[in-house]
Amino acid sequence: MLGDKKVTFSGVQPSGNLTIGNYLGALRNFSKYSEEFQTFYCVVDMHAITVRQIPAELRRRTYETLALYIACGLDPEKNCLYVQSHVPAHAELSWILNCYTMFGELGRMTQFKDKSAKHADNINAGLFTYPTLMAADILLYQTDVVPVGIDQKQHVELARNIANRFNQAYSETFTVPEPIIEKSGMKIMSLADPTKKMSKSDENTNAVVYILDDKDTIIRKFKRAVTDSDTEIRYAESKDGINNLMSIYSCFTGKSFGEIEAEFAGRGYGDFKLAVGEACADALAPVQAKYNELLSDKAYLENVMKNGAEQASYFARKTLTKVKKKIGFVI
Ligand code: TYM
Repeated sequence: MLGDKKVTFSGVQPSGNLTIGNYLGALRNFSKYSEEFQTFYCVVDMHAITVRQIPAELRRRTYETLALYIACGLDPEKNCLYVQSHVPAHAELSWILNCYTMFGELGRMTQFKDKSAKHADNINAGLFTYPTLMAADILLYQTDVVPVGIDQKQHVELARNIANRFNQAYSETFTVPEPIIEKSGMKIMSLADPTKKMSKSDENTNAVVYILDDKDTIIRKFKRAVTDSDTEIRYAESKDGINNLMSIYSCFTGKSFGEIEAEFAGRGYGDFKLAVGEACADALAPVQAKYNELLSDKAYLENVMKNGAEQASYFARKTLTKVKKKIGFVI
């Protein structure tokens, strides 16, 4: 809590072009909190460098991610939108929390295992301690709820453990956060391999629908989506590809699986894929239009990040000072 308001915090890495997985699992849910919560939405550039980035691309994507936040409905007047590296308290608290995070806990993180397998030539210490930085992000703002996709659940649980450990050692210091994982859209799968999560870092661009893909590209990608040799559009355990397309269609249209099955009874996969592509493209069109408008005004985006960082720093410093006092730093 900050004052009399509950707090929401979430972040997105500017490590690639954002996908409909990021949109459906996270971004589209962010604005639900704008009115009643004190909200902090951060472009987490410090997380992004745990994997090698091309500097010019990281810089460009930081602006783009901020523009997408706004295009997805986050009004900078009502939400604190900022860039992680502009608020040094994240790095400071992260170091402190590293001393309250166990090696074994970090070693159990599935994202660390996946990313170290994928980047075997660069298993750096930052990749390992990444979840502690994420805990610092969340705990700095006395966050109550963290809207994320299911892949981030384990990290939020670690943040809870760290908060509880610290609170027990030094008396109540941090709010213990809850992950909020909306069932619909919590795990959008790759179009090329529907047993794998859709990921912005996938090298196969046909496996991924980006928020900024144009309509023809979106329809082409859905047409090529891997399905199965059956012909019926129904949700079933053995039908990962169709299940994924049904989830996506359901997210964009608000229809239930039962309604989708009825709508496409007796029709083929081709028809269904086209409908998914159209629903997706139509839903994204207003986001894209707003995004394009915003991106042409770099000065505006810079102003948003500057104001956001000032506001975030104010709250972050309060928590950081409290933490430093409790652990015995001279301040
Ligand atoms: P990132 O950048 O990988 O993803 C941003 C958000 O998108 C969700 N997401 C998905 N949801 C459904 N289906 C998918 N295929 C899919 N892919 C991604 C993620 O769950 C996430 O909510 N570590 C975080 C960023 C972060 C953060 C934080 C989040 C840093 N600090 C503090 C919350 C709170 C990450 O890498 O997200």
